[in-house]
Amino acid sequence: MINDAHAIMKPNEKQNIFTDDVDYASTPDDSVWGAEDKATNDLLQSANITGKWLNLCAGDGRFNNRLLIRADQVIAADIDESALRKLIRITPKKLKNKLVTKEMNVAKRFTFEDGAFDGVFCVGTLHLFPKQIFKNIFGEIERVLKHDGQIIMDFATDIKRTYPDGSLWIVENEPNYTLNEALSFLKVIFKNYKFNIVTNKVEPEKVKLNNREYVFTSNYILINTFTD
Ligand SMILES: C[S@@+](CC[C@H](N)C(=O)[O-])C[C@H]1O[C@@H](n2cnc3c(N)ncnc32)[C@H](O)[C@@H]1O
Repeated sequence: MINDAHAIMKPNEKQNIFTDDVDYASTPDDSVWGAEDKATNDLLQSANITGKWLNLCAGDGRFNNRLLIRADQVIAADIDESALRKLIRITPKKLKNKLVTKEMNVAKRFTFEDGAFDGVFCVGTLHLFPKQIFKNIFGEIERVLKHDGQIIMDFATDIKRTYPDGSLWIVENEPNYTLNEALSFLKVIFKNYKFNIVTNKVEPEKVKLNNREYVFTSNYILINTFTD
C-alpha cells in the first residue's frame, strides 16, 4: 500500500511483497542497492541484447540504462511506484523514449502477452521469494518470453544483513539458501535451457535505506541462458 504523504511502499513479506520502506524520492541518484557489479555489467556487454526486454523488479534503476542502450525497448517493472519514479528520473533524456515503466506484483500473473519479450533481466530479487512462489514467477517469465528469448538473472545466497550494533536483520519468509542448495535448485529450474552459470561473492556493502543502515554480504549466482 502506498502511503500518500511519503509515497513509501510498505513491505508485506507474508504476501510476498519485499519492499523496504524506502523513500526513493529523497535518495541520491545512485541506487540504494549498491554499485553495479562487474560480472553483470560484463555479461550485459557481451550478451545479445536486442528487441524488447523486461527488467523485472527493476528497483531504482541499477543496470537499466545498460539495457536501454542496447535494447529497442525496456519495460522496467516493479511493485514500488516510487522506485520507478526515481528510475525515470535517473534515465538520460536520450534513452527515455525506449523506456516504459510498469507497476506490477511479480508474484501474480503478469499482464503481458505470451512471447512478448526477447529477454528478461532480473537481479537482486528472486532469492527473496519462497520456492513455490519462485517457481510460479519463473513460469510467468517463461510464458512471456519468446521461444528463443534469453533470461539473465542473479540469485543471492548465504545472505547476512548486519546492523551497526552487530545484530542481524532477518527478512521474514526469505529462504536464504546456501550456495550449494541454490545451485542444485537452479540447475533443475533451468534444465530445459542452455545456460552459463557463475558464482561470486558480494564484497561487504553498506546499504543505507531511509530508516536503517546495514552491511550486506552474500554469495551470488549469475545465470544467463543462450541459444545457438
Ligand atoms: C533488492 S531490490 C533490487 C532492485 C534492482 N533489481 C536492483 O538489483 O538494484 C528488490 C526490488 O524488488 C521489488 N519487489 C519486491 N517485492 C515485489 C513484488 N512482489 N513484485 C514486484 N516487485 C517487488 C522491490 O520494490 C525492489 O525494488
